[in-house]
Amino acid sequence: MNQDELKALVGQAALQYVVPGEIVGVGTGSTVNKFIDALASMKDRIAGAVSSSVASTARLQALHIRVFDANDVDQISVYIDGADEIDPAGHMIKGGGAALTREKIVAAQSTRFICIADESKLVTTLGAFPVPVEVIPMAARRIERQFAAMGGTAKVRMKDGVPLVTDNGQCILDVSGLAIKDPLAFESEVNQWPGVVTVGVFAHQKAAVCLLGTPSGVKTLT
Ligand code: 5RP
Repeated sequence: MNQDELKALVGQAALQYVVPGEIVGVGTGSTVNKFIDALASMKDRIAGAVSSSVASTARLQALHIRVFDANDVDQISVYIDGADEIDPAGHMIKGGGAALTREKIVAAQSTRFICIADESKLVTTLGAFPVPVEVIPMAARRIERQFAAMGGTAKVRMKDGVPLVTDNGQCILDVSGLAIKDPLAFESEVNQWPGVVTVGVFAHQKAAVCLLGTPSGVKTLT
């Protein structure tokens, strides 16, 4: 099975966690796109979705799945999203698709985070994948220096030769060279640096369940 097929496998498997009659939280990325495609098969049995990005909203709407504003919805029972890295405790690095801020907002509004990923995303220690951090552009240089003091190297994410602009109008720093041994403490510390909108370590909103796509089938980590 190739990576695309593994993503389709977990996208399909995630349907069992969707609660009929309710609104489901939907993340962003190529794995979530497989989930959205699978969700179309039960669109008449759910109330709709709260989406974490402009891209996922467009995909959901193209499949005639109603998308609600997060402010019009109370608690969501289940949030389904991918990850760039996940450790055995369910802590994740996210934001490879630049949607980390809205992902964290919808995750915080949800009771259970179900992570879907192919098995290559499972790691013992987070940090080999550069940590995405959404920042206010005027603070970017200072935040780069703060990461350098921690031993990391931060680079502004570029797209088409210019700094990428997120759905929230901000920019992304990708920070490499960190081994994140205490994800909760790391997330708490970076979160309080002025100019940081969101750090792409999801430890306070960690996954309750991880569905990992492997060549022998879906492995469930709880
Ligand atoms: C987007 C994310 C994605 O969930 C993460 O990048 C994984 O994406 P993919 O499923 O394409 O590998 O955090 O901001």
